[in-house]
Order: sequence, then structure tokens, then C-alpha cells
Amino acid sequence: MGHEVHVKISSPADIVAARHEARALALEAGFSICDSTLITTAISEMSRNVLEYAHHGEVTISLLKNGSKSGVKIVVDDDGPGIADIAQVMKDGYSSRQGMGIGLPGTRRLMDEFEIRSKIGDGTTVIMKKWNRYR
Ligand SMILES: Nc1ncnc2c1ncn2[C@@H]1O[C@H](COP(=O)(O)OP(=O)(O)OP(=O)(O)O)[C@@H](O)[C@H]1O
Ligand SMILES: [Mg+2]
Repeated sequence: MGHEVHVKISSPADIVAARHEARALALEAGFSICDSTLITTAISEMSRNVLEYAHHGEVTISLLKNGSKSGVKIVVDDDGPGIADIAQVMKDGYSSRQGMGIGLPGTRRLMDEFEIRSKIGDGTTVIMKKWNRYR
């Protein structure tokens, strides 16, 4: 395996690059076009948050193998302000800047596993996984 791709995020063009890398890996892992699109959507939303709230960060995409299951793991990490109340930001419609407030809860619904680790002043890490339903 050893399949791991890192993309630094500090501009909208970097989000496009991260989407490209994720799509290629997802298709390689046998994900359907539909699931590959859900994966790139998750990357877009989390990278958009990095740009808006932390200004820069990094996306790491890797392939997973668990017995006969294969999947993809995406880690989105930043050194921004952090999130004080994770339960609050996971609610539909909560936004600190009059956004739609659906980036985080919507992305959680797209993925099979979704976890946020954050510490005020120390940054935020979102770890998400999606398993391939077809193999
Ligand atoms: N990486 C981050 N660092 C710090 N705060 C964050 C980060 N990501 C999200 N937040 C906080 O969580 C809130 C909710 O994020 P979410 O993506 O769900 O909605 P939004 O970005 O406000 O609007 P949108 O629907 O356009 O994504 C944000 O308004 C922001 O306060
Ligand atoms: Mg958002």
C-alpha cells in the first residue's frame, strides 16, 4: 500500500488539487463514480473551512485495507484558532459567519466515519473514512 498523498491548502486552487488527488485514489480503490464524488465533496467542504477559519492547512488522503474491505481515509489538519464547542458546530445551521452552517454536519453524513479533534489556539483535525460498498 503506502499510498498516501499530502496536499497543502492555502488557496482555492489547492482545493482543486486535493479533489483531483482524492478522485484518482478513490477510483483506484474501486469506488463508484458516485462515491468518489461524495469523497471529493467532503474534501471541498473541509478544505473550504480550512481557508475560511484557519487560512492554511493540509489534506492527507490514504487508501485503507481491512480484510476484504477497502476504503479511503482523509485527514484535514490546520493550526488555526480551533473549535470551542464541537457539539455546537456539528448542528445543522450553526455558523459563526452567517454561512449555511451545513459544511460539517453535511460532510459527516457523506462519510462512514467522522471525527473532529480540536483544541483552542492549537488547531483542528478532521479525520474521516469511507468504505467501499462494492468490495
Ligand atoms: N477548521 C476550522 N477551524 C475553526 N473553526 C471552524 C473550522 N471549521 C469549522 N469551524 C467553525 O464551525 C462552524 C460550522 O462550520 P460549517 O462548515 O458547518 O459551516 P460554515 O462554514 O459556517 O458554513 P457552510 O455551510 O458554508 O460550510 C463555522 O462557522 C466555524 O465557526
Ligand atoms: Mg463550512
